[in-house]
Amino acid sequence: MNTVGTSKHVNKTGKTILVTGGSGYIGSHTVVNLLEKGFRVISLDNYDNSHKWINNRILEIAGNEAKVHFHDVDICEKQKLRKIFEKYPEISGIIHFAAHKAVGESVENPLKYYDNNLNGLISILQMAAKFQVPNFIFSSSCTVYGNVDKLPVTESTPLQTAESPYGATKVMGERIVTDFVHATPIAKAVLLRYFNPAGAHSSALIGELPQNKPANLVPVITAVASGKMDCLTVFGTDYDTRDGSCVRDYIHVSDLAEAHTLAMQALLNGKLNRVEVFNLGIGQGATVLEAIKAFEKVSGKKLNYALGQRRKGDVVAIYADYQKAQKVLGWSPIFNMEDIMRTAWEWEKQLDNDNYFTSGRQ
Ligand code: WQD
Repeated sequence: MNTVGTSKHVNKTGKTILVTGGSGYIGSHTVVNLLEKGFRVISLDNYDNSHKWINNRILEIAGNEAKVHFHDVDICEKQKLRKIFEKYPEISGIIHFAAHKAVGESVENPLKYYDNNLNGLISILQMAAKFQVPNFIFSSSCTVYGNVDKLPVTESTPLQTAESPYGATKVMGERIVTDFVHATPIAKAVLLRYFNPAGAHSSALIGELPQNKPANLVPVITAVASGKMDCLTVFGTDYDTRDGSCVRDYIHVSDLAEAHTLAMQALLNGKLNRVEVFNLGIGQGATVLEAIKAFEKVSGKKLNYALGQRRKGDVVAIYADYQKAQKVLGWSPIFNMEDIMRTAWEWEKQLDNDNYFTSGRQ
């Protein structure tokens, strides 16, 4: 398996990038990638859905304490946020991950999602304008496409009505960023639409660590395999797909991290239009049952799962056309489903040993 990060695109200028949600799942992998490419990083997190000990793991992987500064900051607290921009006037780009992201929870508690995800975004954009930070990357999602009738989806596939308040915050977030850029002469932005992020860093030192019981497929698979959960329920096997279960485009989190660094480098080099949208998926769909088989193959373990009813809000099938990211950013995914399952399993097993009970997982 190749390791991402040892790339030719080393950033020699030592630019400083602010990462919100930098101790979270995708945030931590992106901070590692940025550090490995020679960037200096200011990482903000309120630890609402992440853990401070992840910061030590980031240093263990990417080293160089002088190049990364961690701050416990909620981006909705404007005074604290302003102090960060005053302390680091050299910030030349922002990667904005900090947001709530549980689809199911957003249905039960929509105001929590609209308040945090939209006000947090507005707060960070206001600071970008006030402190003249020109480059902005917004963490968006394939949920903006909803149920599509033509696959794979390209960036010009029309957006459907979002299936959940979470998805709605991503559709609105893209609009807010776009309007902000068009009204702010120095501003440029990239909107990255993630498909299904999964897997863990090849070191098994960082990975996906939801605060509560996992809801996404891959962490549920590894939690069941490790005995933390009893049984996985396959949500529906009567869909119009090759084996009846839903199709998704699972992309390794390290591939996702690499795309963020390449996008920031493209923004800094002035290579992009004012607002650019990119799909980040691997261009292949895998069904739930195929994902389970891939796990059983790489782990050598038989997974305990049952065939159940459909889950409300699920789209039947979605996977990406990522040619635009390939052509414009020079990005190509290098990890496959087996790499996802292998790294996710290695991460889960080390959680068993020394972090499970302190990781805040139920
Ligand atoms: C995947 C498939 C489930 C759990 C996620 C994120 C969303 C966005 C897109 C980034 C579905 C099935 C799951 C289980 C199952 N990512 N499943 N049993 O819903 O595609 O959305 O990726 O922004 O934020 O939530 O991901 O992993 O929940 O589900 O059968 O116990 O696995 O029905 O078909 P989803 P998921």
